[in-house]
Amino acid sequence: MSFVTVRKLHKSFGPTPVFADIDFEIARGEFVTLLGPSGCGKSTLLRCIAGLTGVDGGEILLDGQNLIPLSPQKRDIGMVFQSYALFPNMTVERNVAFGLRMQKVSAADSRERVREALHMVELDTFADRYPHQLSGGQCQRVALARSLVTRPRLLLLDEPLSALDARIRKHLREQIRGIQQALGLTTIFVTHDQEEALTMSDRIFLMNKGQIVQSGDAQNLYTAPVSAFAAGFIGNYNVLDASSASRLLQRPLSTAQAIRPEAIELQPDAEGDGEVLGHSLLGNVIRYRVRAQGVDVLVDVLNRSAIDLYPTGTRVRLHIAPTAVCEVA
Ligand SMILES: Nc1ncnc2c1ncn2[C@@H]1O[C@H](COP(=O)(O)OP(=O)(O)OP(=O)(O)O)[C@@H](O)[C@H]1O
Ligand SMILES: [Mg+2]
Repeated sequence: MSFVTVRKLHKSFGPTPVFADIDFEIARGEFVTLLGPSGCGKSTLLRCIAGLTGVDGGEILLDGQNLIPLSPQKRDIGMVFQSYALFPNMTVERNVAFGLRMQKVSAADSRERVREALHMVELDTFADRYPHQLSGGQCQRVALARSLVTRPRLLLLDEPLSALDARIRKHLREQIRGIQQALGLTTIFVTHDQEEALTMSDRIFLMNKGQIVQSGDAQNLYTAPVSAFAAGFIGNYNVLDASSASRLLQRPLSTAQAIRPEAIELQPDAEGDGEVLGHSLLGNVIRYRVRAQGVDVLVDVLNRSAIDLYPTGTRVRLHIAPTAVCEVA
């Protein structure tokens, strides 16, 4: 049973359509990520669902209720924006309590719920601070607490981690996912970071130019991209046109193919048809550039020891399992 239903959603700014005919369904308690390049319409889609931007056509249903005629306040949706907007002249406690005051929750209840929300984001002792006395990651957590405290039916998170450093991002990612699961909160999360999407989501909607071009769980998106765009956006696929793919794989192919670099096996072989063109060290992985049958491909090898390093010019043979090859449109 669908909890969020979007049908044939249309949105244009003047003559320029951002999206046309967006359709999807989200189950209660699901964590769905909108993943896609800058400008593809992710924020606009969230803003339409929240009611902050009007739509030009289509339907948005939440738990069977048509949201389109409702004002943002009546939709009962929590949203955290790309740039967190805390009130600078209010303490953390008052920032978090803001939505409850709007809902006319009693002072005693409000205090208890704010305490609970700050505890969830591990800011128990920060209630009396002002935003300028907090780090970026702490501000982002206050924004999250502010959106959780009203117990919304739906939580919309628009790149809430984009301004933060890698370590805090990873920590907050786990915190957000933990809170979301503990509360069973239906969530739409926006990012253009594939790792974030792959690690956090129940399902990913991959967007390009105002369309959802593929949806599925992380494993499905990672191992079975349906288009060259999807293969290029997720993982570091080698995307080969039909003629290059036919030469490399030594069989006739009429469509483009995508091959994951870590699914190609590389063996030094003086008689091999491949040659190492160079390598880069990614830490746990060595990424080789190899030319075989006149086709250049990337091959990832686990960095087990320095002995594994094959210098430029090494003759090699590539083994490519059929299951590592995806046909892409
Ligand atoms: N208020 C507006 N008026 C006119 N055009 C807009 C407006 N808001 C967004 N757009 C345009 O709509 C398109 C989608 O923008 P949107 O902000 O939804 O992209 P996004 O996927 O969130 O990108 P990013 O990853 O950079 O945040 C862009 O081409 C943008 O320029
Ligand atoms: Mg955006």
